[in-house]
Amino acid sequence: MTRQMHLTVQLISGYGLEPAAWRWPGIDPASFINADVFVKAAQTAERGRFDALFLADTPVLSTDVATAPPQQALEPIVTLTAVARETERIGLVATSSTTLNHPFTVARQFRALDLVSQGRAGWNAVTTSHPGALLNYGTGVPSRGERYERAHEFIAAVMALWGSWEDDALIMDKEAGRFADASRVTPVGLAGRHVASRGPLGLPPSEQGQPVVFQAGGGLNGLRLAGRFANAVYNNPFDIPSGVEHAAAVAQAASTYGRSPDHMTVFNGIITSVASTRKEALERREQLDALGDLETKVAYLGQQIGVPLSIEDIDKPVHQSLLENARANPADPRSPLALELAGEGLTVRRILAHGTMNYHPVALGTPDEVADILQRWHEAGVGKGFNINPDATDGLEHFVDEVIPILQERGLFRREYAGTTLRDHLGIPRQNGLPAGYGQHVGAAS
Ligand SMILES: Cc1cc2nc3c(=O)[nH]c(=O)nc-3n(C[C@H](O)[C@H](O)[C@H](O)COP(=O)(O)O)c2cc1C
Repeated sequence: MTRQMHLTVQLISGYGLEPAAWRWPGIDPASFINADVFVKAAQTAERGRFDALFLADTPVLSTDVATAPPQQALEPIVTLTAVARETERIGLVATSSTTLNHPFTVARQFRALDLVSQGRAGWNAVTTSHPGALLNYGTGVPSRGERYERAHEFIAAVMALWGSWEDDALIMDKEAGRFADASRVTPVGLAGRHVASRGPLGLPPSEQGQPVVFQAGGGLNGLRLAGRFANAVYNNPFDIPSGVEHAAAVAQAASTYGRSPDHMTVFNGIITSVASTRKEALERREQLDALGDLETKVAYLGQQIGVPLSIEDIDKPVHQSLLENARANPADPRSPLALELAGEGLTVRRILAHGTMNYHPVALGTPDEVADILQRWHEAGVGKGFNINPDATDGLEHFVDEVIPILQERGLFRREYAGTTLRDHLGIPRQNGLPAGYGQHVGAAS
């Protein structure tokens, strides 16, 4: 296994992962519609030699706009096209749904982004199941089986369309008047149960051939999809053992389809809160929490450890008489940590600051401590990658300026980009069209 890790960065709507981050000092409250915020973040991440900027996407207004900005509102391809023009090396990964779109549109958009960025595009192919997003497209939620069957056809169609221009088709000989070798630009003529497209696409391959396909979530169905088509996977483990288990399953899924597990990177979601001391990092998180809905958080902490808690308890430890009956909620993998911290006598506010109900595990503390956490996960074999979610936008600068040099010093992260394309950064070969050997493993599909 290569010793070096891979890093993408995610800044939800330009603010950071904490829902209240839009209120954080120094943050532009209009970040969600400000492309400059994404450009600046990408430039900072590029200074830190990150593999890519990642934009998740669910096309639905799911927040209560009375108190919080829309999430992921700025369309990812548009945003990343702006970012591409202001950066040189960093990869650009946009999310696009196989449930809600047409493969020809997706093939065209992502190839365009790949060409505009000189080979830095990635496509996070998701099987959207959010009922509100489906309603925006006028339908209900198809069954999981239907969504994944469509996803297999959809990604195969996109890749076939990408491959409809062969690598050496473009000639552009002005003297001879020959623009392209038409015999190398051919229709794909696909017609499946869910999608159909004649092709060919009107765009040639980029410097990396075609965009890197990422896959996110979805249990066994997601694993099969990733094993068949993807070179990178997003995962949300709450602890190291489940991260290791998932990475092994991803590698196995790739092998099942005759593809190299070495060409797969699993990016594990981590929230980072970096400060000069661990105490300061916890205080930073407490200040962020205080800008959001603390009442709901306290009540939910009560559910995690099976005791009644309310906002009046915020600055007290959980009372001994309650602790005697406390139990970690088996339905929430973050509950054992919450129970452990309560048992240590921490105040409710301080327990929450440890990230006991955050979407990803929280790596908090000094730059050295945060680097230690990443190193521990990495060396345990969680799949080589992390998707870094700074708690608030300024957290990205702390990470790049303070944590990255430590990772570099330890030989865990690149000092310079080895190449120019996203495939170069991920250490995967050029590809233009369907994976080699596609179709030989159909029996294992969907
Ligand atoms: C780390 C991670 C990131 C995801 N990002 C997105 C996203 O940006 N947009 C989206 O629609 N779904 C996203 N998903 C959802 C998955 O694509 C999938 O639909 C979800 O896990 C539900 O599983 P199912 O499709 O098997 O029902 C993500 C899932 C995970 C685990």
